[in-house]
Formats: sequence, structure tokens, C-alpha cells
Amino acid sequence: MKSPKNKNLITNNKRPEQKNKIAFCASEIFPFAKTGGLADVAGALPKALAKKGFKIKVLMPLYKNIKPQKMYNGYGISEAEGIDFVFIKDDYYFFRDNLYVTKDGDYPDNLERFNFFSKQILNILKKINFSPDIIHCNDWQTSLVSVYLKTIYNDDRFFKNTRSILTIHNLNYQGIFDKEKFLLLGLPWNYFDVNWLEFYGKINILKGGIIFSDIVNTVSPTYAEKIQIKKYGCGLDGVLRIKKDKLLGILNGIDYDVWNPETDAHIYKKYSAKNIVKNKAANKLKLQEKLGFSVNKDVMLIGMVSRLVEQKGLKLIIKALNYILDKYQLIILGEGECGYKEVLKEKEKEFKNSFNLTIGIDEPLAHKIYAASDVFLIPSKFEPCGLSQMISYKYGTIPLTHHAGGLVDSVEDISKGGGGIVFKNYNVQDLISALDRANKLFADKNHWNRVVNRVINYDFSWGRASDEYINKAYRKFLRVLSEDCCKK
Ligand code: ADP
Ligand code: GLC
Repeated sequence: MKSPKNKNLITNNKRPEQKNKIAFCASEIFPFAKTGGLADVAGALPKALAKKGFKIKVLMPLYKNIKPQKMYNGYGISEAEGIDFVFIKDDYYFFRDNLYVTKDGDYPDNLERFNFFSKQILNILKKINFSPDIIHCNDWQTSLVSVYLKTIYNDDRFFKNTRSILTIHNLNYQGIFDKEKFLLLGLPWNYFDVNWLEFYGKINILKGGIIFSDIVNTVSPTYAEKIQIKKYGCGLDGVLRIKKDKLLGILNGIDYDVWNPETDAHIYKKYSAKNIVKNKAANKLKLQEKLGFSVNKDVMLIGMVSRLVEQKGLKLIIKALNYILDKYQLIILGEGECGYKEVLKEKEKEFKNSFNLTIGIDEPLAHKIYAASDVFLIPSKFEPCGLSQMISYKYGTIPLTHHAGGLVDSVEDISKGGGGIVFKNYNVQDLISALDRANKLFADKNHWNRVVNRVINYDFSWGRASDEYINKAYRKFLRVLSEDCCKK
């Protein structure tokens, strides 16, 4: 097996042909395809790295909606913001209406689909003659790239200097499949073993990624700690403890080119820190009017844009709904589990004047909700990082969060000088008290506006976060350390 590179690093930023090369792979990337925060990260981190002088190829499947600028045999290419996007084509696997699921559950051939994708990533990198220093994989869907790099491609000179990094965005999704499918990976049976890809008699693709990657990271320091204990380890805490020397926690950022109320074309009225009080209120009043709510800036408008799954605190929300809707206004935009969607739809009929539910993925509406809401609801049971709290800040919207995972690292309670309302215990009573506490503060306009002005100035940009990737994760595998790409 390859050992980490230990070369002498040259400092030279005048030789562009020697730029460090990164292949970044993900199953969803904004703006091409998105179901959640992975797409935001995969859209923004490569952009931030390209700005710092890295040579980047970003690889993802060619889904139905994507139209590359150029098509070749087996892949398409588009160039934007100094990055080449490489779309891997297979109509049988990827020309479908959804990314991973139908309404009946996961596509039954998800292993075949992402196994094909992972193998093609390595084949196509060779085809386009891009031999990266680092292949950056994300979640189970690209974990097999790390596995194949150290097995099938271990002796391939093309990847001699290539090391792999796996970012775990959510340990809850591991890519677990029946043993019978192991053959299609093309690996020797000895890898179907508890020390490699076997997991309670099944195949666990993320486990393979953790074992074979040179560095593993997750998306916040707190979550990186938590997943090493049984309660939060989703069965992989043991493997993560063994690998703890190569396990990092790097907090995500958000892309201020996408999320910025000063330039946001989706919102009703643009605003900045200078005119936020007046213009943010205009967004709120307009949305209230559109939704058929009472148009009143003194009623607290609570927003939520989220996957509708247990992780995001849906059980708590449903239990607290009557209380919330009697006192406040609530708008939820989300896609997710049918059970939650049905309960919420019923509630919407009962509380037409204070509750609006939009099912589906709707980027423009998401922006409107961030801009119009006073408080953003994020009562996640667990949260690897969470981006909504960072987006909320930028729109001067106060996040209300459960003290979990990445929310611990990015949201501090207003009572401690922070910019959010935080509840510690995951129960309905604590959620309700937090909402009432938010409302009390909201009524004190001077205090509230001070906090709003504080949060809109927070910096959760990828500038900081990409530096952390460079310095903590990539640095020892790079061939050139130049001033512009590797500032300490
Ligand atoms: P996760 O990745 O766990 O879903 P994050 O907070 O990291 O949660 O990121 C969620 C991202 O997806 C945010 O950009 C959020 O605004 C967006 N999002 C979630 N649901 C929807 C939806 N139904 N329509 C549009 N955007 C959505
Ligand atoms: C996952 C996590 C979320 C994180 C996102 C991007 O979907 O659930 O917490 O922010 O990935 O890393």
C-alpha cells in the first residue's frame, strides 16, 4: 500500500504547470444538482481552492437536467470560474428524475450506479491525463474511489503520487448493501472482511472509504469528536477510533456569491447591513402577503428550509406545532419522508393563516424565506455541520438551534454574546421555551436589531474554511507550496 508522500516541497508560484492538482468528486454539486448541503459544499470549496491557485477538476454524474458545454465519449465538460466540471455519462444509471430515490425508496441499483461512477472517475482522469495530487471524495457515493486507488489501481503509475481524502458529510448514510453484490465491485473476496468492507454481514461502502483514505474528515470539530463514541457513531465509531489520528473536523463555510442579500436576485428587496432593518421588513411583509398570513411585522415569522427527516428535528416540530401556530407564523420548505409531509399538510389546512408548507426543492423560495424570516428553525437531533444557520446570519435572521454537532461550533446563544437562540435538551418543552425566549427578545426591538446587525457581519466564508482544508488536510500531499495557495 502507498505511504503518505514525504517529498521536499518547493516554494514557487511562478510555475503554473506545477500547480497542485485536485480532483474533487461528489454525487451532487450546486448549481447542477442539489438535495442538501453536500451540493453547496461541493459547489463552493473547489471554487475557493481554484482562487487560491489549485488546478481543479470536479467530477459528478451527468444527471438528466445537466447540459455540458462539450460532450465526449462517456463524459461531458463545462468550464466555469477556473474549474473544469467533468460529468460522467451513463444514461441508464443517471438519466433519471431523482438523484438517489423514488417515492418508493432508494433506487435498488444505487450500488451499481455509484460503483460505476467511482470507477469511471479514475478511468476518465487517465483519459483526460489529469494525474491529481489529491482526490477529494465525499460521502459513500464516492468512497469507492479511495478503495480502488489503493487496490485495483495500487500499482498504476498514473496515480503513483495521488493520495485520497474522504469528507464525511453525514455518517448516517453509509451505503450498506447485501453481501451478494460484493462481486460487482471486482475486489478479491478477502476484502469482504471485518477489517475492510464487511459490516455485520453486509457491504459498507463508507467504511471502505474510511479505511482506505489517507485522510478522513467530517464537517465540524464537534461532530468529529462525537462520532467516535458509540451513541453517535452509527456503528462505525470503532473504525473511526482506530483511524482517529487521520480524522479531522473542519467546519464548512458558505458561498457568499450565492448567499448575499445585497446581490440576491431571488428576494423581494435587496439589503445590506446599512439598510437591513427597513428592507428586511419589506421582504417579510411581502412574503406574509403572498402566503395569506396577516401582514404584520410584529408577529414573529419563523422560517425553515430543510430535508424533512428525523435528523432535522421533525418529531419535535410536529409535537410543538399547535403551540407554535397559535402564537407565531411558520413557513416550511422541504422535501423528505412521506409521513412527515402528510402530517404537515394536514396541519396546514387547519392553520391556513399562520402556516405555509411548500413541498419540493425550490431555490428561489429558499432565498425568500431566509430573507423574510425573523427566526430560522434548526432543531436538529444531530447535525454534522449545518449550513442554514450560516445562511441565516448573512440574511440577518436569527437561528434557533438545538445544541448539536456543527451547530455547537457555529451558534452561540444571544445571552452569551452570540447570535442565536440555543436549546440544550432535545425535547418539546425546551424547543417551545426557546421560541418564547426568541419572541421576548424580538419584542425588544432595540436589542433585537443590535443582534441582527451583529450576525449579518459574521464571516462564515469559504476563504477561512478552504485554508483549513489546505493546511490541515492537503498540505502534506502537495507538490508545490506557493504563497498564494498555501498561506499558513
Ligand atoms: P443537509 O445537508 O443535512 O440537508 P445543510 O444545512 O447542510 O443540511 O444544507 C441544506 C442546504 O439545502 C441549504 O442550502 C438549504 O437552504 C438547502 N435546502 C434544503 N431543503 C431545501 C429545499 N426543499 N429547497 C431548496 N433548498 C433546500
Ligand atoms: C450533510 C449534513 C449537514 C452538512 C452538509 C454539508 O448533509 O447533514 O450537517 O452541513 O452535509 O457538509
